[in-house]
Amino acid sequence: MSHDRKPLISGNWKMNCNHFEAIQIVQRLAYALDKDDHEAVEVSLHPPFTSLRSVQTVIQSDRLPLVLGAQNVHPDPEGAFTGEISAGMLAKLDVTYVIVGHSERRVHSGETDGDVNRKTKAVLAAGMLPIVCVGEDLDERSSGRAESRVAEQLAGSLDGLKAEALADVVVAYEPLWAIGTGETATPDDAQKMAAFVRAQIGERFGGAAAAAVRIQYGGSVKPGNAPDLLAQPDVDGVLVGGASLQVEDFARIVKYRLYQA
Ligand code: PGA
Repeated sequence: MSHDRKPLISGNWKMNCNHFEAIQIVQRLAYALDKDDHEAVEVSLHPPFTSLRSVQTVIQSDRLPLVLGAQNVHPDPEGAFTGEISAGMLAKLDVTYVIVGHSERRVHSGETDGDVNRKTKAVLAAGMLPIVCVGEDLDERSSGRAESRVAEQLAGSLDGLKAEALADVVVAYEPLWAIGTGETATPDDAQKMAAFVRAQIGERFGGAAAAAVRIQYGGSVKPGNAPDLLAQPDVDGVLVGGASLQVEDFARIVKYRLYQA
């Protein structure tokens, strides 16, 4: 599969919204967006597992140009893993993108780069596209270790992938100190790290992979900062948490190009 680097704007709903609320958000969002928006931008929505089927049904029955995403996956195809969901189950629901290694899962559920690597491979093997999250914490940033931390996460999370697979991978750079805090990396910081991620992928997988991989920025993305973040040459999209639940805000983020200088 090959993709151009059309901006990908993803709404990570986290543990919010039951399936009735989810349907309402999708319908209101569909109303707020128009054909030009969908031509310019790809929009993926990542509701909790319990809402996937409902959102899939709305998208399909109303023929909405929105893309379904999940927030997590188990790396094994099936078996005695109580409470878990496999990649095959998600693919069957027409899920396209799966977030793997979100910092909240790394922190609260102890996910390692090895786990993220297995999940990434499971998502690709099921014909879906992983959004692989990386990012340093405040301590790592203040002590000048942000790049080495991100390099280490990339190496572990993408280990063993074929170079061609990178065209199907999205890397989300989400500095931990910016998630849910209202603090955003400056557009310049986001660009520097996105360029660094691309260079790392180039070193490991070659120039074609570096040109094809898509890189998102995430962490307190709002309507006010999205236009500048998305103007950066190596930032191919944004992963939006809190603001993705506010339909007006999320629609304005999707329409960022109307607010660019
Ligand atoms: P936030 O979350 O936009 O609420 O900071 C981003 C994320 O965790 O993906």
